Amino acid sequence: MAVKKVLRGTTVMLRPMVEQDLTTRAHWLLDSEIRQSLGLPDRPSYTYQTALADSHRWLSDRKSSGDLLWAIDVDGKLIGDVTAHITDFERKGEMVISIGDKAMWGKGYGKEACSLVLDEMFRESEIYYVDTYVVLGNNRSFSLALSLGFTPVGTQTGGTRVLRLIRKAWMARRKAELAS
Ligand SMILES: CC(C)(COP(=O)(O)OP(=O)(O)OC[C@H]1O[C@@H](n2cnc3c(N)ncnc32)[C@H](O)[C@@H]1OP(=O)(O)O)[C@@H](O)C(=O)NCCC(=O)NCCS
Repeated sequence: MAVKKVLRGTTVMLRPMVEQDLTTRAHWLLDSEIRQSLGLPDRPSYTYQTALADSHRWLSDRKSSGDLLWAIDVDGKLIGDVTAHITDFERKGEMVISIGDKAMWGKGYGKEACSLVLDEMFRESEIYYVDTYVVLGNNRSFSLALSLGFTPVGTQTGGTRVLRLIRKAWMARRKAELAS
């Protein structure tokens, strides 16, 4: 992982995630809607301490997988995170976003954070496309992917939908946005 770069949008700032962020992330993980939307098992007896331990393991796994991981800040407050993974030899990328602070949903932050990361992925690597995965019933996430220009390409066992964004489509979209 180890993103060193800060990505700035008009409302969100993406910065490297640090261990101190995990105390906030652990609180988000206690929310069953967040867990469900990310495809994590529902655990009624889940405690803060377990969520914190899981978050430390998650961060360590992200590092060892070579993922790019950003914390999403709005006005200096942590609201979520975005993970990107590049597989160079297949020239493909993957992206997962979570706005853990539910009070911040529906304000355009998710879309802006994803756009910054997609710009970065297509700019800094020679990938052809980026995939994202939406668990069954997560309509908000599905709409977000569609609104970014992703196209559904398949469904995994269990109903998780795979959506893909091709480099050419993203570049054309960004060009059109700049021109408008
Ligand atoms: C999915 C998630 C990232 C969306 O972030 P957000 O900041 O709430 O979304 P935005 O406000 O940027 O809206 C982006 C798009 O989502 C869609 N959307 C927003 N609110 C919605 C709602 N209530 N219902 C359905 N779709 C909605 C719209 O299509 C919108 O695009 P548009 O503004 O071009 O129409 C966020 O809700 C979240 O983190 N959820 C929990 C974790 C999760 O599901 N992660 C995704 C795993 S792949």
